[in-house]
Order: sequence, then structure tokens, then C-alpha cells
Amino acid sequence: MLCYGVTMILDEIKAIEAKLLLPTYERNPIFFVRGEGVHLIDDKGERYLDLLSGIGVNALGYGHPAIENAIAEQSTKLIHLSNLFFHEGQAQLALRLTKMSGMDRAFFCNSGTEAMEAALKLTRAYAGLLRSEGKTIGTKFLALENSFHGRTMGSVATTYKAKYREPFDPVMPGVEFVRFNDVDDLKAKFSNDVCGVLIEAIQGEGGIRPVSKEFMAAARELTKSTGALLICDEIQAGLGRTGKWFAYQQYDVQPDVTTLAKPLAGGLPLGAMLCTEEAARAIHPGMHGTTFGGGPLACAVAVTVIDTIEQEKLLDHVTDTGTYFHGRLAELAKKHAAIVDVRGMGLMLAAELDSAELAKQVASAMLERRILINRTSETVLRFLPPFILGKGDVDHAIDALDSILTAHAPQEAGAATIGGKHVG
Ligand SMILES: Cc1ncc(COP(=O)(O)O)c(C=O)c1O
Repeated sequence: MLCYGVTMILDEIKAIEAKLLLPTYERNPIFFVRGEGVHLIDDKGERYLDLLSGIGVNALGYGHPAIENAIAEQSTKLIHLSNLFFHEGQAQLALRLTKMSGMDRAFFCNSGTEAMEAALKLTRAYAGLLRSEGKTIGTKFLALENSFHGRTMGSVATTYKAKYREPFDPVMPGVEFVRFNDVDDLKAKFSNDVCGVLIEAIQGEGGIRPVSKEFMAAARELTKSTGALLICDEIQAGLGRTGKWFAYQQYDVQPDVTTLAKPLAGGLPLGAMLCTEEAARAIHPGMHGTTFGGGPLACAVAVTVIDTIEQEKLLDHVTDTGTYFHGRLAELAKKHAAIVDVRGMGLMLAAELDSAELAKQVASAMLERRILINRTSETVLRFLPPFILGKGDVDHAIDALDSILTAHAPQEAGAATIGGKHVG
């Protein structure tokens, strides 16, 4: 007897996927059928604490009544409308996003990589406009080592790891990578040839690595000096995950372009590229577009997500719970020498371990204890929980990590100091 209205069992799904799907993912052998708050529930009714939230998507957790109501209500009115006509959703969402971000204009699409494509195209078009006005500016982009900006041909070209790019060569030409947080390298590689510099204020896939204030400030100054655009990719760090609407707001820097996606529409696909009025001069009707982007359903839900974050004061909650989580991870680092670094901001956190093998073992032992985390950049345990996470959930996860690390690296338990470790 199958529960929860499902019609297949896991083994059937696995067999069909193995035969019929393009093998792009190695899935964990769990069949989730529903979610409640910060928990996912599998086909056997087992509850899992979700500290990954669909890789940073399900910011309000699962089954939030505001999202369910917004979907129910809007779906009875309009789900899709072509971008040839007006509906209320894009205007409502643009009003909120421009106010939150300090930007002037918005373009809506369906995913992070599309938001990045829009940013890259806008940047090239803007440089073209400046050239037509007599300025000397080229077409090159600078991105950072260990960056991740997406999988389409433009954004993957600005993504650092060769394994994502090289099988698809030639990807978009004209991208150079700058050593992470190396201001001298940035200065050496920056010139009038550069039309845009791409930065994740906190690198996500790259291992939850915050860019330094000096690096961000240097990128802002250099780009300003030539008319190149500073593009902040906020797809993982944005919309409240660090405790501010945008992670760049932690740096007191205002970019020219920013991108959002993951949590924007509560789990429905929606991306946004926001930019200044100045950069927007480069775009005219017909130059860029999308069939699905900014549809009425996705926009109505996004407006609800933003209003709910505000009404439930979730930015403060993210800061408070994130500080607590960070502190508890730092305590754990004092006890376990295998934790070599604890970093991040708000509810975008990481504990880096001293070996990839151990990180793999810990992630899978957490899964056995029904806690979802993820390993990125080989050695980094990444935590991207829903914003509604409670301190009790943090304690539960820390207790599990503590006993797993004790079991997997027993000789290291009780290590006396955190000398040499960075727990900032
Ligand atoms: C910082 C960043 N940029 C871009 C992307 C690509 O987003 P999407 O998978 O929605 O295309 C991601 C996805 O993980 C991301 O973390």
C-alpha cells in the first residue's frame, strides 16, 4: 500500500530514471513526498531536518500558508501571460525589489543562470553604447577564482571550475579569472578592455567564502573609473539569507547590476536582473526577452515571499539564528581539530573539514540521522537552511555533528585549542 498519494516506489523511480533521464545528477536514495516547516518527509513517513532548503530556495520552509494561499489565489486568476501584455505582478515586484536593492530597473526571467545571462548581455550592450558615445571600453569580463554563476554558455564561461566549462568549449570568450580577494591581481587584470566585473559577495558553490571589504571596494572603484559595470551575483546570498536583503549591503557598496533567483518565488522558478537607470540606457524593446519570465503566478508568489519576510521579521531572525549557529559551529571547532574553518554570514554558513573523505562521511552520516546538509568544494560542509530555522533545530544539528565527528575522527576529539584556525 503506497502512502501520501504516490503511485510509484523508490526502486521503480530509480530504474526508470536510470534508463530514461540524462544522467546529470547522482541522487541520494530518498523519496521525499512532502514537507512541513523545516522538515521534509519521505515515503515511509520519516522526517528530515532540512539544512539545505533545496539549495537555498525554500526560504520560508515547506507548507507556508502565505505561499500556499498566494498560489491558490493567483492560479484561479492567471498563471501565464505573454510579455506582450500587462499584468500587475511585475510592477508590484519591481516596486519592492528596486526599493530593497537601491536599483532602478528590473528584468524578470526564470532561473539564476538566465538572470546572469541578462546581466552579461546588458553589460556588453552598455559597453557598446559607451563606445558609440566615444568612450574607450572593451568587451572583457573579470570573474573570481572559485566563482559559480550558472550553467548556460555565458554564465558557465564566468564560472571558475574547468569541469563545468571545458566539456562545452568553446564557451563565451573574453573572461579572465582573478585570484580570490587578491586586490593586486584585480588591479593587474583590470583595464579599459574590461566591461564588467562579476562578484558573489559570499561565494556559494565555491565554499561559502566572503569577499573581503577591500576587494569589493577596489572592484567598485576600478569599475567606476572606466564605466565598466560591477555585477553582484546574489542568487545564493541574496533576498535575506545573510540577514540583509542583499549581501552587498553588508559591504556598503552599491553595484550597477545584481541578480536574484533561488528563494525569490518560494520554490517556483523566477529570476531577476536589477540594474541602474544608467546601464538600462543600453536596452531597447526586442533586444532581450523571455516567454515565461515574470509570469503572473511566479510574481504573485514572489511578492508574497518578500511581504512575509518583512511581516515575520525574518531578516532579524536570520541574523539572530545565524549568529547562534555560527557560534555553535565555532564551539564545535574548538573541540574537533578536524574542523579547520567556520565561516559565513546569517544562514549561509560553512564548516570546512581537514579532508574531503571526512566531509563526505560526515554529510552521509548526517543523512543517516535524517539531517540534510551538503558538501561543496570537497571539504566544506554547507548550511543553507530555511530562514524560519529555530535555535532548537541548530542544537539538534550541532549535537549530531558533534557525535559524528567524535565517531569518525575520535583521536581528535578534545583538541584543546583553535590555534591557527579561522572562525570569523
Ligand atoms: C551564485 C549563483 N549564481 C548562479 C547560480 C545559477 O542558478 P540556477 O541554477 O538557478 O541557474 C547559482 C546556483 O547555484 C548560484 O549559486
